[in-house]
Amino acid sequence: MKITQKGHSNIQEIDFNNLKFGATFSDHMLICKHKDGKWGEAEIMSYQPLPMMPGTQVFHYGQSVFEGMKAFKTDQGKVLLFREEDNFNRLNKSAKRLCIPEIPKEIFMDGLHEILNLDSEWVKQGDNFSLYIRPFIFASGQCIKATISDEYTFMIICSPTTTYYEGDMQVKIEQKYTRAVKGGTGAVKAAGNYAASFYATKLAREKGFSQIIWTDAENHEYLEEAGTMNVWIRIDDTLITPKLSDTILGGITRDSVVQLAKDMGIEVEERAISISELKEAHQNGRLKEAFGTGTAVSVIFIGSITLDENKMQFPKQVDSYARKLKANLTAIQHGKIADNHGWTTEVESSVASH
Ligand SMILES: Cc1ncc(COP(=O)(O)O)c(C=O)c1O
Repeated sequence: MKITQKGHSNIQEIDFNNLKFGATFSDHMLICKHKDGKWGEAEIMSYQPLPMMPGTQVFHYGQSVFEGMKAFKTDQGKVLLFREEDNFNRLNKSAKRLCIPEIPKEIFMDGLHEILNLDSEWVKQGDNFSLYIRPFIFASGQCIKATISDEYTFMIICSPTTTYYEGDMQVKIEQKYTRAVKGGTGAVKAAGNYAASFYATKLAREKGFSQIIWTDAENHEYLEEAGTMNVWIRIDDTLITPKLSDTILGGITRDSVVQLAKDMGIEVEERAISISELKEAHQNGRLKEAFGTGTAVSVIFIGSITLDENKMQFPKQVDSYARKLKANLTAIQHGKIADNHGWTTEVESSVASH
């Protein structure tokens, strides 16, 4: 790996308490190209613009996949990565679906650790802080024919973050637009999925909602995801989240929460949730909580769910499962309690030759 360290860090200019999510970048980035059928040498350099021709394929056909993962700092100053292997595997699952060459594990892991080693100061201590890491691969060949590219670029960039959303989410059940269809790309992180989801989200925001709950494409009757998060409800004392399918992204936070809830003795069901069941549970006073899970937010409370003109509100739970799960997850991520599932990895000091 070739490393050119940035001469002067601009970290002193950053107000870490007032970060806009995803808009500030750390000092370094990683870049590695796939040409003539193979991945070349990865390079780390200062965060900088990319020279690209207008005919670059990603601009035209969106052949691009990405990941979102986080690093946290312990009270002892160590940098911990959360479930890096799962993000690596999911990136390659997405790549395969989009006909993008898979990234070798060594390039991904060595690059990830090296960049975090260089930018470790960007991972701040404290429960509200983390460094959001964005690995991505895009078609960087030049050709405006709608076809698979013959060149790809893999990159890693990092963005320091504080709490993502303030307060509870007020969500609306979406029954017109669709995020994912059977046989489509909803179960992978293809860039185009997100571009296609913005319009419905924009309309909902204009009506004062913070997010939408996507429903199935056929009948708009089953809950799928909450924006770019997996969705959860609690009926009585059972937590329910939609079963994974090819229209739902297998969230790593979702998987962690399933495990943590089971560890806490909470009953978890992964199965279809219909709107009728939701309505009925609410009418009977059995719908106790709803929340979303995702890397950016960890666990976030849903304060109300609106279906047409009908707003279902959730009173604050004294023994909120969402609160306990969030606290447990945050404690594991920051190395404050035992990581019984081997989810965290300490960033190694320099793994590559300079
Ligand atoms: C569509 C979608 N669903 C769910 C998630 C949550 O996944 P994770 O917990 O791995 O961040 C994400 C974020 O990656 C997403 O984009």
